[in-house]
Amino acid sequence: MNNNIDRITKGLAEACKECITVACNDSSAQKEILRGGGSSGGIMTRLLMPRPISKIRISTDALNTCLEHGVVAFDYFILRGSDIRKKYQNFFSSNAKMIETCHQMGQYITGDHNEPNKVIIEKMFKLCQQNPNADVSKYRDILNEQSYDLITLEENKRLDEAGLKGSGTKEERDKLCSPKIEFVDLWLTPHDVINKFFAITKLNKAECLDPCASDGRWLNGEGMSIDILPMKKNVIQKDFLTLTKADIPSNIKTIVGNLPFSLLDEFVNKALELVDDCYFLVSGDTIFKHFPNNIEHLYIFSGLEGNQKDNRSRCEFDVPFLIKSALWCCIVHITKQKQQPWVVESNLPNDVKRDGYHIALGKNTFIKSDVPVDNNPRITRIPVTSSIKWKGGKKIVDSDGNVIDLKNFTYMD
Ligand SMILES: C[S@@+](CC[C@H](N)C(=O)[O-])C[C@H]1O[C@@H](n2cnc3c(N)ncnc32)[C@H](O)[C@@H]1O
Repeated sequence: MNNNIDRITKGLAEACKECITVACNDSSAQKEILRGGGSSGGIMTRLLMPRPISKIRISTDALNTCLEHGVVAFDYFILRGSDIRKKYQNFFSSNAKMIETCHQMGQYITGDHNEPNKVIIEKMFKLCQQNPNADVSKYRDILNEQSYDLITLEENKRLDEAGLKGSGTKEERDKLCSPKIEFVDLWLTPHDVINKFFAITKLNKAECLDPCASDGRWLNGEGMSIDILPMKKNVIQKDFLTLTKADIPSNIKTIVGNLPFSLLDEFVNKALELVDDCYFLVSGDTIFKHFPNNIEHLYIFSGLEGNQKDNRSRCEFDVPFLIKSALWCCIVHITKQKQQPWVVESNLPNDVKRDGYHIALGKNTFIKSDVPVDNNPRITRIPVTSSIKWKGGKKIVDSDGNVIDLKNFTYMD
């Protein structure tokens, strides 16, 4: 689950609850909301469209069409409308009405809410009618049931012909499409970080395997790149967790990449089963707790500290629906051979955090170095630069009182 999206969904759930609760007692507002028109319907539509959705999938037919045409599917979620058109002309259609002529125009893929907005609004009304005091988490659960899918225009046409335009259950809609694959933890490493990493470590890409390569940006066609959901033809479609030594060419010595954080343990264990050395971009919070005795070297990111005076290892990524999201993380060199353990601390007062001997790797996870961080031979800095585009203004507050400052995120158009 993408945390930033989850926090935004929480804020939206509160707004939805408020809107639905008011409309529940006003039959004309209720009618407007359910048909998506009028001022009440407009408010609801504005809340839900466009909204970041954490569950994103692609149908197998859509994926194959993208691979065939050299189109990177996640660009649909990351580039702005005008940039997508510049790069791919009309390959992605936002107007499925043009189905008959789509192929002449080069339109092949469209986006689809697998659970239509109308259906989730109906579910919210039902919830409100049955239990006017239902907790906001119930509204959030309804929002989280929705997925956003990339499908082919043919699949979209099938849905329309079956009378499922803007309606139908997930099961009914899925049945009419080729099997869908979910985007799992797709956080894209900035190219600059990858280049600096290889320049510092001097690893030979030809001897590396990237097990979660996506568009293959870490190795760029050298060595071996695989992914369960590959975005380019030269990345092999494979589940890393099922890989065996026999699947890997004998010259591969090292596993490198930005692993899916939700599968961190499984990925590291599998990598150490296959090779002696791996370098993973990981969540600092987890890696030092789960593999404290296998970490040889720590590469920390610096440059996004803002007005914080401590060493904080955070990097920015492109994430579907939320362009540029900063995350606590670092790159670690993990070895099969046991290493000297690291000192992990939490609950530190500010003066200790900022003494130059500590690195913040999570909100409350600190590594203590016995010499100043910059003199520690087991720690290297990778400088990163902030490129967050400030859009200004919008704020959402969730029920814990946390302000979700949308200035930090750039939405797709
Ligand atoms: C954090 S992204 C990294 C993408 C890219 N390597 C980068 O650094 O920009 C994680 C990738 O892991 C892939 N993935 C998730 N589960 C996988 C599995 N079991 N086997 C292989 N790849 C997997 C996802 O499809 C996603 O592309």
